[in-house]
Amino acid sequence: MTDIEVKRRMGEDDIAEVASLAHAAEKVDNHPALGEHAWLDLVLGGRHGFAGFVARKSGMGHIIGYAQVTKGPTSWGLEFVVHPSHRDQDMSTARALIKEALKEIESQGGGHVHLWVSKPQASVDEMIKGCGLKKGRDLLQMRRPLPIVDNTPRPKVRHFRKGDEAQWLDLNNRAFKNHPEQGNWDIETLEARQGEAWYDESGFLLLENEAGRLIASCWTKVHDDYESRIGEIYVIAVDPEIQSQGLGKKMVLAGLDWMEHNGLKSAMLYVDADNAPALKLYENLGFSLDHVDRAYVGDVPTPTNAPTP
Ligand SMILES: CC(C)(COP(=O)(O)OP(=O)(O)OC[C@H]1O[C@@H](n2cnc3c(N)ncnc32)[C@H](O)[C@@H]1OP(=O)(O)O)[C@@H](O)C(=O)NCCC(=O)NCCS
Repeated sequence: MTDIEVKRRMGEDDIAEVASLAHAAEKVDNHPALGEHAWLDLVLGGRHGFAGFVARKSGMGHIIGYAQVTKGPTSWGLEFVVHPSHRDQDMSTARALIKEALKEIESQGGGHVHLWVSKPQASVDEMIKGCGLKKGRDLLQMRRPLPIVDNTPRPKVRHFRKGDEAQWLDLNNRAFKNHPEQGNWDIETLEARQGEAWYDESGFLLLENEAGRLIASCWTKVHDDYESRIGEIYVIAVDPEIQSQGLGKKMVLAGLDWMEHNGLKSAMLYVDADNAPALKLYENLGFSLDHVDRAYVGDVPTPTNAPTP
């Protein structure tokens, strides 16, 4: 039997316990156990709608699984991780965590749910289907070795400086209009990432036009949490008014050059499987598929006994 405790606030000890579970899973799975949005929500104390679910084997003290729900502007994010030594064939801990999390979402008014799983297998598809969610978006992680040999002239970029926040948020939110994770960012979302240990403003590249207006950006991120250091094209955006004119390619090249100058031997990025322009751009630059992250989606109904607004 598994006991699941629902926590609407996580104390320091809870966070340390989840971090050690995540670390054990990462060593085996070779990818971060929780996505960046979920991780920040956990360590920064949780935004409105946050809930953490801690699974323990009945009668035993230690944590064997964790799930978390995070409320976004338009939908709920749900993620889970099970300790490698407690992964059984029928995935009972994962199933119990997901069901508990969906119950919590229902009790908080319901809504659209995204559950992210890295490197999903057919058995995971089935288990999650049994919890009432269906396959949604696929996010591709693509990689390529560095350096890149390409003679395209590079744009004159500069790095992000204090004071660029409003202009960058405007560019980002227009380029990623309606994107579930990258759209609709506010200053708090931006500053939370800039406050992370990995943040390095020298790799946050901006391009302005002659009038000094921001027209494109390529934000890079160096990962020390992979088997070997790898640079990510973390967020890339070109002003929607001037897309498809070659700027995206030049900005990716500028980002890859920055990684090379910083001693990195390989690069990666994430792209939605249905983002045709971006996929074409990356394939042309020699990126190829490493693995898929899959979102499972569903709509949790509003509870029938909810007070009418
Ligand atoms: C993705 C993005 C950065 C590309 O920038 P861009 O300036 O529009 O792209 P480019 O003009 O440099 O074109 C790059 C390649 O994509 C292709 N491409 C551009 N627009 C395309 C479209 N609408 N459909 C298919 N292919 C397209 C071009 O043919 C080009 O290929 P080539 O190198 O063989 O010529 C830009 O469209 C953007 O900001 N999109 C919104 C944010 C986003 O999706 N970011 C990527 C997240 S992973």
